[in-house]
Amino acid sequence: MNLFDMIDRTKIPEPWSEGEKIPWNEPGFSERMLKEHLSQEHDAASRRFEHIDAHVDWIHRDLLGERPARVLDLGCGPGLYTSRLVRLGHTCKGIDFSPASIAYARAEAKRNGLDCTYVQGDIRTTGYGADFDLVMFIYGELNAFRPEGAGTILRKACDALTGGGVLLLEVSGFEALEKWGKSGSSWYTSPTGLFSERPHLYLEETFWDAEQNVVTRRFYIVDAESGEVTPHAMGTQAYTNEEYHRLLERYGFTDIVFLPPLPGGAGLFPIVARKPGT
Ligand SMILES: C[S@@+](CC[C@H](N)C(=O)[O-])C[C@H]1O[C@@H](n2cnc3c(N)ncnc32)[C@H](O)[C@@H]1O
Repeated sequence: MNLFDMIDRTKIPEPWSEGEKIPWNEPGFSERMLKEHLSQEHDAASRRFEHIDAHVDWIHRDLLGERPARVLDLGCGPGLYTSRLVRLGHTCKGIDFSPASIAYARAEAKRNGLDCTYVQGDIRTTGYGADFDLVMFIYGELNAFRPEGAGTILRKACDALTGGGVLLLEVSGFEALEKWGKSGSSWYTSPTGLFSERPHLYLEETFWDAEQNVVTRRFYIVDAESGEVTPHAMGTQAYTNEEYHRLLERYGFTDIVFLPPLPGGAGLFPIVARKPGT
């Protein structure tokens, strides 16, 4: 793509039509993203360790009753939750499609002798296994899927739980997403960054679709030397609390409880639900 193609772009994108996600699963991007996951300077990609420690304490105490459990972490990133939960006596499996994150998680498990299994795969299509006591899917990732994909993941999560097992979601609030979607455009220049290791200009447009309740973020990365433009786009689906409730019921969950935000969880809040059974 070049600057003329950019000038000729569709002014207002149809939600999801230009891409669903930033390229988490591209090798180079995933290496650069791994640095963001591990950074202690911000809570983007993964929270700072002080916040993750607090989340893990809460999961261990309040959700798992301090009893050894089988935990599945969907979109586990570099395994920052699983590696802590396993040290508290739980058995953990993480699935993520980022090659650099899964390589890091596996290396950490090996280095520290941790009983964690990691699978590199897309959570819409990868098998989850069965008999988990807890399936967690946090950091607003449910909202990063089209409704069909989110439904597939919730159905598979319910199938993977044992009767009475717990689903932990951490989702985006409707108002926070609507505000984000109306935040407009921004740009910066950088000698190197998440989207390119070369000097580049980063251009971002953000849109709110009030009919489908979707935020679309469109990024153009302009290479400083060649002028080549690399486009990316991502969608984020907003749901009201009633819609979250109905969605969870539709995929077989019960005892649905909305909780206040976790530490470092700006704009996100947990929902805990149960698979029926004992
Ligand atoms: C915001 S990060 C959160 C990582 C981790 N849960 C944490 O809080 O530290 C979202 C993660 O979801 C993963 N992800 C996104 N879409 C995915 C998909 N379709 N299949 C597997 N993993 C996916 C990304 O690679 C990334 O590691």
